[in-house]
Amino acid sequence: MSVTITLPPQVLRCINTLKTTGHSAYVVGGCVRDSLRGITPHDWDLTTDALPEEIKECFHAYKTIDTGIRHGTVSVLIDHMQLEITTFRTDGEYTDHRRPDNVFFTSNLEDDLARRDFTIGAMAYHPQKGLIDPFCGQEDLKKRRIRCVGDPIKRFSEDALRILRAFRFSAQLGFDFDAATLNGAKDCRHLLGKIAVERISSELSRLLLSGNPAKALEAMHHSNVLEAVAPALAAALPADRYFTVLDHSPADIYIRMALLLRCLPPEKGGSLLRELKFDGQTIHKVKKILTEIAHPPALTARDMRFLLHRCGPKTAASVIEVLIADRRIDRLARDMLQNTISFHPCYQIKDLAVSGTDLKKIGIPANDKMGVVLKYLLNAVLEYPSCNNRDQLLDMAVQKYNSLVQ
Ligand code: CTP
Repeated sequence: MSVTITLPPQVLRCINTLKTTGHSAYVVGGCVRDSLRGITPHDWDLTTDALPEEIKECFHAYKTIDTGIRHGTVSVLIDHMQLEITTFRTDGEYTDHRRPDNVFFTSNLEDDLARRDFTIGAMAYHPQKGLIDPFCGQEDLKKRRIRCVGDPIKRFSEDALRILRAFRFSAQLGFDFDAATLNGAKDCRHLLGKIAVERISSELSRLLLSGNPAKALEAMHHSNVLEAVAPALAAALPADRYFTVLDHSPADIYIRMALLLRCLPPEKGGSLLRELKFDGQTIHKVKKILTEIAHPPALTARDMRFLLHRCGPKTAASVIEVLIADRRIDRLARDMLQNTISFHPCYQIKDLAVSGTDLKKIGIPANDKMGVVLKYLLNAVLEYPSCNNRDQLLDMAVQKYNSLVQ
């Protein structure tokens, strides 16, 4: 059955402009895959038999950027749309297991498609010539499976990051694995050590934030790929169905990361994230959530107030979401927390109905004792929110201060 993909006018103009100089150009890769799935692509990549200098010449009237000219890629800006145009190429040796040492430009589209990682991303499309699919990517899309183009061991050895791309695509698309591809990932997992840690954590984050992380994580674990990227986690994993809860949680990196690491003590979870070079904020928030879920709050307004005091509203909400997803607290906790935020908005010293200046005016000097008094007042308000009024707090402050100086 013939396939029609509606191309944006800028893409059509790009293809036609190259045609005027005798070159052929196709959309290729992720945009073809997404279009065939009925999803609007987030960007459009093109592949052409024109050499990089010829591409630049052809688009001399447009703004062009030498995005990766050594690898054949020139970006062209057409009516506010940036298009990446890459010359048909085959790759040389991948001695670093990440990038080809050199590339060879070719005039053959199929050779270009053959160097790509997965069949579902190795399809090209031309508005007149239709779909070019020599590796049966369309069939794999229908069968919902991730399959390497050609020999999986070769593909993963060339660029070990592809191992994680495979699991990430499986999670994003909800696809299974072709058996040889999964085995290839397993056999090549040691090469992940050659990959920059930041690339690994970026793929892991994208996987976690996808629609179907659980099954992909399960496959990562069973193929020992998880062990290769996060050994401390793999060693601590309890029995079956550990990952299922992730699919039923909000797609938020702090929540999902905490769910992923919930079998680890907070310190170990934090160390793992540090090894993976996650940013300081992620490490801090996830550790905080892991600390809180070790002693979950009860379903009482009082516990919600103290939770807010310890973590602030955003992290407290994440803690509750993690506990709900993990079925350790009733869903009612979500409303309870929101009501507490709305009706008892005092959970820090700065929210008290009195300030340090007020205390100074009634004769309490601004020293460490004032700090003790303020903490005492806050604790009282967290226990009994109704006492957060000026007169009552000033009375309590005097009493407390007197007891400290006696
Ligand atoms: N590709 C590859 N090996 C890689 C990265 C990319 O073979 N390690 C090829 C694939 O054919 C891919 C295309 O280059 O479709 C474009 O790469 P990229 O934009 O990273 O991937 P997409 O498939 O577009 O998907 P996404 O943008 O979601 O990552």
